[in-house]
Amino acid sequence: MTLVRARVMDTPEDPFTGGTLRHGEDAGLLVTEGVITARGAYGSLRATFPDEEVLDLRGGVLLPGFVDTHVHYPQVRVIGSLGLPLLEWLERCALPEECRLAEPSYAEAVAREFVGGLVAAGTTSALVFGSHFAPAVDTLFAEVSRVGLRVTSGLVVSDRALPEPLLTTPDRAYEEARALAARWHGEGRTRYAVTPRFSYSTSEATLDACAAVLKDEPGTWFTSHVNENPAEVAAVNALFADALHYVGTYDAHGLVTERSVLAHNVHATDDELVLLAGRDAAVAHCPSSNSALGSGLFPLRRHVEHGVRVALGSDVGAGTGFSMLKEGLQASFMQALLGPDGLLLTPAHLLFLATRAGALALGLEVGDLGVGREFDAVWIAPGPGNPLDVGLRHAASPEDALAKVFALGTPADVAGVWVAGERL
Ligand code: GUN
Ligand code: ZN
Repeated sequence: MTLVRARVMDTPEDPFTGGTLRHGEDAGLLVTEGVITARGAYGSLRATFPDEEVLDLRGGVLLPGFVDTHVHYPQVRVIGSLGLPLLEWLERCALPEECRLAEPSYAEAVAREFVGGLVAAGTTSALVFGSHFAPAVDTLFAEVSRVGLRVTSGLVVSDRALPEPLLTTPDRAYEEARALAARWHGEGRTRYAVTPRFSYSTSEATLDACAAVLKDEPGTWFTSHVNENPAEVAAVNALFADALHYVGTYDAHGLVTERSVLAHNVHATDDELVLLAGRDAAVAHCPSSNSALGSGLFPLRRHVEHGVRVALGSDVGAGTGFSMLKEGLQASFMQALLGPDGLLLTPAHLLFLATRAGALALGLEVGDLGVGREFDAVWIAPGPGNPLDVGLRHAASPEDALAKVFALGTPADVAGVWVAGERL
């Protein structure tokens, strides 16, 4: 057992429905075999457990490990191409790079860089968009298993509109996904996600193959893109003349359930929000990506009012890095820019979106630092004199301190990361 001593902040209850920031100025967390078994003021916990080893994390703030609900493994090397809209960015930046993962040694190097990027940013759980190449997906799973992250991922499938090396067939999509799921779904901390790239590049027959994998591999997840960019939405509507709308292109194949996470949804209609809420599906909001690609201002208020679950994604490599602090900050900027249509986000909202909301979207029993949870945590500890250090020392309240963490914190301030009590 270990007694962790830290300034702890978490959001066990949803701030969108009345929850508030939970804060322990000098808190103790007793961690037993990776699980938090007691929590309280450090002094009183120490009196009860005088002999336990103490892990002293004073200075800075201990938060639940971040949960990134949308991030692309093959795109770590193309982060930072700014200013192109989605379809042009895919063609010029992302897809040529994704073709390179056909080469196993290239994929191995990218997998190490990608997983290293997640850990360095304090992300402990992620829903990862994989590669179009099955061996490269295998490589990713092997790397996350070696490092110990909680990762849900899968083979990305498409059978049109992309460069030829990225295309598959419905039969091959099914067979390769089954083989990967058999190997990795429920193995340690890894799980499988059925992943058509987006309806634009996936025919009805391949969406059917995706549905078959979901049925034949019980408990697997579903992820894809939706309603990201107006030109993309128009193209999808033209391709699927019988569909009610973009969400309907997936729903018609039974792909929208409580185990589905759809990225973006910037240009959602009310009918789509009603459907997503009815299916209890989650949306991954990716604010830095939406800004970089000029995709639009995410209608968070309408999602919340319709009862659609929302979490945060970095969407690397359209997104500009792995930091979920940056995504939280950018989410608050975008809501401010929406004026009366936006939702004022407090620091507690940002923390919830970056942690517990993601855990709920992924069906993971993590995302806060309460008793019974596995100890997944990130210690943000800026060096002396750094503006975040100054801000934390002069913060007027716990909420103010957390606001400074989102405004000023970067991966350089991540001083420790744990998954299930294991320091990565
Ligand atoms: N839609 C289809 N593929 C992608 C991708 O790689 N990134 C983003 N942001 N949107 C997509
Ligand atoms: Zn994406």
